[in-house]
Amino acid sequence: GATLRQLAQKAGIRIGTAVNSDALADEAPYTQKVATEFDSVTPENVMKWDTVEPARGTFVFTQADRLVDFAQAHGQLVRGHNLVWHSQLPSWVTDGDFSATELRDILHRHITAEVTHFKGRIWQWDVVNEAFNEDGTLRDDVWLQKLGPGYIADAFRWAHEADPKAALYINDYNIEGVNAKSTALYDLVARLRKEGVPVQGVGIQGHLDVQYPAPHDIADNMARFDKLGVQTAITEADVRITLPASATDVEAQDEAYQTLLEGCLLTRRCTDFTVWGFTDKYSWVPGVFTGEGQANIFDENYQPKSAYTALAQDL
Ligand code: XIL
Repeated sequence: GATLRQLAQKAGIRIGTAVNSDALADEAPYTQKVATEFDSVTPENVMKWDTVEPARGTFVFTQADRLVDFAQAHGQLVRGHNLVWHSQLPSWVTDGDFSATELRDILHRHITAEVTHFKGRIWQWDVVNEAFNEDGTLRDDVWLQKLGPGYIADAFRWAHEADPKAALYINDYNIEGVNAKSTALYDLVARLRKEGVPVQGVGIQGHLDVQYPAPHDIADNMARFDKLGVQTAITEADVRITLPASATDVEAQDEAYQTLLEGCLLTRRCTDFTVWGFTDKYSWVPGVFTGEGQANIFDENYQPKSAYTALAQDL
């Protein structure tokens, strides 16, 4: 049958995957699936701060460059992930005891160096990742504590200066449906755009769990962002299951994947549907959610699961 990539092209969206750089380098079936099933890629880790700037002012782009080269060789676009986040920060940033002025300068230099390095080769940047708490307040991380809420607008302006053509996204989880968090993010994006801050997209991660109801109002939620004139994307879809998986779990997983994809397909400015890894062989889920797994669309032997077929049917 047709690959997801071929089907997505007809549907008018990109289909992407997060890529594990080690597997891409070492494992032929992994590499082959990335190349044939997807037309967009996101580095799972290698563009994050701890990899890219492990010591102050020392920039390491080796692994990220390899992925960008791979993408170009295979006619794929790249989602840059990410520039500002509370996690995977090197300790020199978190424990540095910098003044506000110094930290602001560190952030500015980091964004400018990374975005400039990849200028012209990144389709969409996740500029700010996971800035919100579930209740809609801003996360009390090092950026908010030391720089105040203005760090968000600054980050977008700095990224835009370095690569005016990249689409700049704010990305978060648990914002699939209409809730306190997605509404706070909506309000922020509306305000930023009114103020002329260059934010062009909202990334909806889509990390779901079959034990919670799938977000059946995702299309309504995405519609309100669409009306603001911003792009949207499903950026990190996976659907975890408490093991061992029952037949009901698997059905719920297929449906949850479809709910996310349908949200995108029903939204005019939704650009892409990206899964957070495609094979159960390499997934962040078992390491983070105790007792859970099988969250992806291929099994550990690279065989397509029913979730794969469900997505193919919807495209
Ligand atoms: C995860 C990676 O998949 C893991 O390999 C890493 O150890 C931790 O980060 N939200 C995000 C992603 O925005 O960057 C996270 O990726 C998953 C949750």
